[in-house]
Amino acid sequence: MAELSASILAADLLNLERDIGKAIHSGVKWIHLDVMDGHFVPNLTMGIPFGDAIRKKFDVNIESHMMVDNPDMYLEKYCSFSKLVTIHYEAPVQTVRVLKEIENRGSMPGISINPKTPVSSIESLLPSVKYVLVMTVEPGFSGQGLIEEAAQKIPLLSEYRMRNNLDFLIGIDGGIKRDNISHIASLGPDIIVSASAIFSGNVEENINSLRSCIKENRNGQ
Ligand code: DX5
Ligand code: ZN
Repeated sequence: MAELSASILAADLLNLERDIGKAIHSGVKWIHLDVMDGHFVPNLTMGIPFGDAIRKKFDVNIESHMMVDNPDMYLEKYCSFSKLVTIHYEAPVQTVRVLKEIENRGSMPGISINPKTPVSSIESLLPSVKYVLVMTVEPGFSGQGLIEEAAQKIPLLSEYRMRNNLDFLIGIDGGIKRDNISHIASLGPDIIVSASAIFSGNVEENINSLRSCIKENRNGQ
């Protein structure tokens, strides 16, 4: 069954400890840290001090989603608190080299693709990654609507993985809510990232209801 990853972009930043605690208490095993630099995407968010603080306080897997032009900067730091570090295919860096460095530093290397980037662009990288994060919104903001065509890359990746005997996890990020999560789960991702659907309102209730929609799908299959 797909696991939920809680993106704290929509958490109450002045009550971050409380919100992360609630998510973990409700069984969430992954915290998704959206790192933005104001260049790769038109927004600035959180970075190293947030990751360090979460690591110190909670025993949880952190996935750092690097929406930055230079994901190779400060990798030592990001890898020190992240189980998984995901860089963007669209970032202007030597992708293979950076993925290798993430692995050498002991984190799982991940690659993310924007909604308009086809799976074919990253085929040659797939043997070198442990995670593929499919963006179903343009990166930059929480609370946008899901782009369905982008979600259709999930079954493509899943088939490619099986055919080529690879072992990367598949994640999906952006616009996932209670009313579409069952459909998203049916496409076969391993990790479903959500920010606003988890952190707007009652965190525990939201997580339980999202999780029961994922389960519903599994029972229906
Ligand atoms: C967007 C971020 C997403 C975002 C998802 O750039 O990468 O992780 O937080 O937010 P929701 O779930 O609200 O669409
Ligand atoms: Zn993200």
